[in-house]
Amino acid sequence: MPKKIGVLTGGGDTSALNATLKGIALKAEELGFELIGFMEGWRGVLKGGRYFTLTPDLIDENRGGTLLKSSRTNLIKDNKLDEAVSNLKKLDISGLIPIGGDDTLTVGTALSDQFTTTFVTKTIDNDVGINPPEGDAVDYSKMVNYFCPGFPSSAQSVINAVRDLRTTTYSHDRVIVVEAMGRDAGWLTLSAAYGQADLIVVPEVPYQPEKLAEAIREKHAEQGNVIVVVSEGIRNEAGELMINSEAELDAFGHTKPGGCSEIIVETMKKLLPEISSSAFRALILGYLQRCGSPIPLDRNTAIKAGALAVQALSEGMFNGVATITRTDAGIEPTLLPLEQVLKRDETGHVVRRDLDLRFYDAERYQMSAAGAGYFRPLFGNLPRPDLSLDDWLIEVGEIG
Ligand code: F6P
Repeated sequence: MPKKIGVLTGGGDTSALNATLKGIALKAEELGFELIGFMEGWRGVLKGGRYFTLTPDLIDENRGGTLLKSSRTNLIKDNKLDEAVSNLKKLDISGLIPIGGDDTLTVGTALSDQFTTTFVTKTIDNDVGINPPEGDAVDYSKMVNYFCPGFPSSAQSVINAVRDLRTTTYSHDRVIVVEAMGRDAGWLTLSAAYGQADLIVVPEVPYQPEKLAEAIREKHAEQGNVIVVVSEGIRNEAGELMINSEAELDAFGHTKPGGCSEIIVETMKKLLPEISSSAFRALILGYLQRCGSPIPLDRNTAIKAGALAVQALSEGMFNGVATITRTDAGIEPTLLPLEQVLKRDETGHVVRRDLDLRFYDAERYQMSAAGAGYFRPLFGNLPRPDLSLDDWLIEVGEIG
C-alpha cells in the first residue's frame, strides 16, 4: 500500500502555483505515493474539508492560479490545529506539503510540531526568506530563498504594464502614479525599473510627499511626462497605511491596502500647481499582477521545488523548506531546515523579508546597481539609463 501525502495552497494566488503542484504530483507518482490535494488552503484539512487524489494529468503547469483554490484560513486563531492533525491522521496522510507565504507557513510551522511537514514557498510579494549578509558587496548566493515562486512572473507583469504605459504617458504628457502590490515589501514595485519607471516608491522607506513632489517636478521639467510606481503598502509620516476605503482586516489581522496612488495624485496636484492638474492619473494594477501564465524560469523552478519537497519527505527529511538558491551555475532549489528559513517573532508569526535596501537608491527613487545585480538573472540588464526615452522606446519595439 503506497504512502499517502497531502498538499495545499494558501494565501494570495500566483502564476506559478500549478507548476509547484505539477512538480509535486510528478515526483509523488514516480515514488509511488498517493497524493491528496486539499481544497481551499487550510480549510481543506478540517472536518468537512474537500480533497481528492491529485494526479499529474489534472494539472496544467502553464496556467496561473491554483487548481486547489486558496483561502486565508488561520487555524491558530480559530483553535483548529488539533482538529487538522486528527483529520490528517484519520485520512492516513503521512506527510503534508503546505505551499504558501508568511501566513500559510506560520500555520504550517505551528502544525509541524505535531505533524510531518515539508514546505514550499510562494508569494508575489517575495517576502519569505532572508537577505544576503550585510556588507558593501552583496553575495547573492547567500540569500536564503533567492526568490519565492510566483514573484518573477508577477514582476514580469508589472514590467510589461509600466513599459506599455510609457507610450500613452508620452503621448498625453501625463504624470501617472501606478500602484503595485506587495503589502509590506517593495520587491515587486522595484521590478518596475525594468519597465523604465521614472520614480519608484517602496514601503521600506517612509513616504515624504514634498520630496516626491520635487522629484516629479525635476523629471517633468526634463521630459514632460512622468511614471511613478508606488507600492500599495507605503506608509504616511504617521506610519499608517494610505488606504482609500474602509479598513478591512483579513484572518491574519492584516489591513487590506489599496488606493494610495489616488491619495498621492491628489497631494501632488496641490504640491505641483505648475503642472496642469488634468495631467495626473492614478492606476491600480490590482489582480492583473498575479494572474496569467508563469514565465518559463519561474515555472521550471517551481516544478523543481515541488519535486524536491516530495523527495525530502520520502527520505525522511522533515520540517524542511524547498527554497531557491542562486549560484554561478544557475538557479536551483535547495532544501533547508525550517529554522534557517522561517524565523518567527514573539507571537509565532513568520518574520517577513523586507526589500534589501542596498537594492534601492532612495535619493533617486530608483533601483541601485546592487538591485540590478539581484534582478539580472531574471530579466537581464536594466534598460540603459543613457538612452533617451524615444531611443529606448524604439529599442524595445514600442515605436517604429
Ligand atoms: O500576499 C499577496 C498579496 O497579493 C498582496 O500583495 C496583496 O496585498 C494581497 O495579497 C491581496 O490580498 P487579497 O487577495 O485578499 O485581495
